[in-house]
Amino acid sequence: MEKLWSGRFQAQSEDWVNSFGASIPFDYQLAHEDIAGSIAHVTMLATCGIIANDEKEQIITGLESIDQQIAEGQFDFTLAHEDIHLNIEKALHDQIGPVAGKLHTARSRNDQVATDMHLYLKQQVGMIIEKLNNLQQVLVNKASQHVETLMPGYTHLQHAQPISFGHHLLAYYSMLSRDQARLTESLKRIDISPLGCAALAGTTFPIDRQQTADLLGFSAIYDNSLDGVSDRDFIIEFLSNSALIMMHLSRLCEELILWSSFEFQFIEMADQYATGSSIMPQKKNPDYAELIRGKTGRVYGNLFGLLTVLKGTPLTYNKDLQEDKEGMFDAVKTVSVSLDVMAGMIDSMAVNVETMEHSTEKDFSNATELADYLANHGIPFREAHEIVGKLVYSCIQQGIFLQDVSLSDYQAISPVIKADIYDVLASRTAMNRRNSYGGTGSQQVKDSIKRAQAALAK
Ligand code: ARG
Repeated sequence: MEKLWSGRFQAQSEDWVNSFGASIPFDYQLAHEDIAGSIAHVTMLATCGIIANDEKEQIITGLESIDQQIAEGQFDFTLAHEDIHLNIEKALHDQIGPVAGKLHTARSRNDQVATDMHLYLKQQVGMIIEKLNNLQQVLVNKASQHVETLMPGYTHLQHAQPISFGHHLLAYYSMLSRDQARLTESLKRIDISPLGCAALAGTTFPIDRQQTADLLGFSAIYDNSLDGVSDRDFIIEFLSNSALIMMHLSRLCEELILWSSFEFQFIEMADQYATGSSIMPQKKNPDYAELIRGKTGRVYGNLFGLLTVLKGTPLTYNKDLQEDKEGMFDAVKTVSVSLDVMAGMIDSMAVNVETMEHSTEKDFSNATELADYLANHGIPFREAHEIVGKLVYSCIQQGIFLQDVSLSDYQAISPVIKADIYDVLASRTAMNRRNSYGGTGSQQVKDSIKRAQAALAK
C-alpha cells in the first residue's frame, strides 16, 4: 500500500519490516485524542486564514464520522499505515478526497503525537485520582468499623505495641493521599499543549497556538518548540507516580497475604477475591493480592524502561520516543485495575477481631507500658528499660507474661509499682493511652477519620 510519505522513496519495505516500525497495534488507543487534536488544528487553520472555511467544515465532518466509526468498532486499523495519525489521515482522504491533504498544514506527527499523549494522560490521571479516592473511602469506612479493634503493631515483624486496626488501615489512607496530591500536582505539567511546535522548529504559517490550546482545554502551551515535541518528562513523572502507588498497594497486599495465612488468621478474603487450588481442596489463596504485588514489578519496569529510552536521545524527535506508549498504557491499565481490586478486597474481607485482639494479649507488647510506668514514678527511663528487659527475660523462662506477674513480685522489683499496674498493662489501655496527635488512641483515630472524611468530601 502506498505510504502517505512515499514521494521520496523508490522501493517499499516488506510487511514484516513495516510491522516492526508500526505503532498502530497500541496507539489506536489515542484515536479519540488524535481526532480532537485535528479538529482543533483545522479550526485554528481556518480562523487564521490558512485554509478556507468550507475546507475546514469538510475536514471536521469527515473526522467526526471517523471518530464515530472507531467508537462503534467499525474502523479498520491497518499496519500498512504505521500509526494512528496516518491511519486516520488516510481514512479521511478516502472519505473526503484531496481536501483531506490540507489537515496536515503547519503540523507534524511530532507535535501531533505529543498532543495526543498529553490529552490522553490528562484524562487518565483524572480517572486514577477518582479511583484513589474510592479506595481511600473504602479504607476509611473499614477503619471506622475498627477504631476499637486491637491488633499487634509490628516493627521488624515482631510484636511491638498494641494498636488499633483502624489506625493501621488509615496509614494506607495517608499514603494514598500523598499519591493523590502528587498526581494532582503533576497535572500542571501534563496540561500543556505542544500543538503547533510542528516537526521541531515551529512553522512558517501564521498559526495561533493559544487558540488550539484553548479549544483542547489545555491550561498552557510549551514555550520552546524543540522541548514541546521531545519532552516526555510528563510520562516519566506519571510512571514514577504510578510506581509509588503500586508500591503502596503492594505493601498492603503483603500484609493482606500475611494476615490471611494460617499462622495469622487476622482476616479472611471474601470468596469473590480468593481462588482455590487445582490439587489441594482446602486451599483459599489470596491470588489477587499476590497479583497486585507482582504487577508492581511491571510498573517499575515501565518507569525504568522510559527513563532509559530518553537518556541517550538527542533533540528533538527520534523514533525511540515511540517506545513511550506501551509502558504508559500498561501502567494506566495496571494501576486502575489494581486500585479497583484493592478496594473490592478491603471492602469485602472479614476481620477476625477476636484472633487479632487475642494475639495482643499473649505477648510482651505491653513491656513499654511497664517501662513508662516506672519512668512516670521517677525512675530514669534507661534504668526502667533495663529492669523491664530483665523481667521479660525471667517471664520467658517461666512461660508467663507481664500481666501474670504477682503484685508482690512487682513490688519486690520496685516499690513504686501498685495494683493499678494490671490495668496499665492491658492492651486496650496501652492502645488508648497513646493519645498523642496522630497516635493509635481511639480519640486520635476518631479524629483522623473525621479529617479524612472531610478531605474526601471535598
Ligand atoms: N508513531 C509515532 C510515535 O509514536 C508518531 C510520530 C512519528 N513521527 C515521525 N517523525 N516518525 O512516536
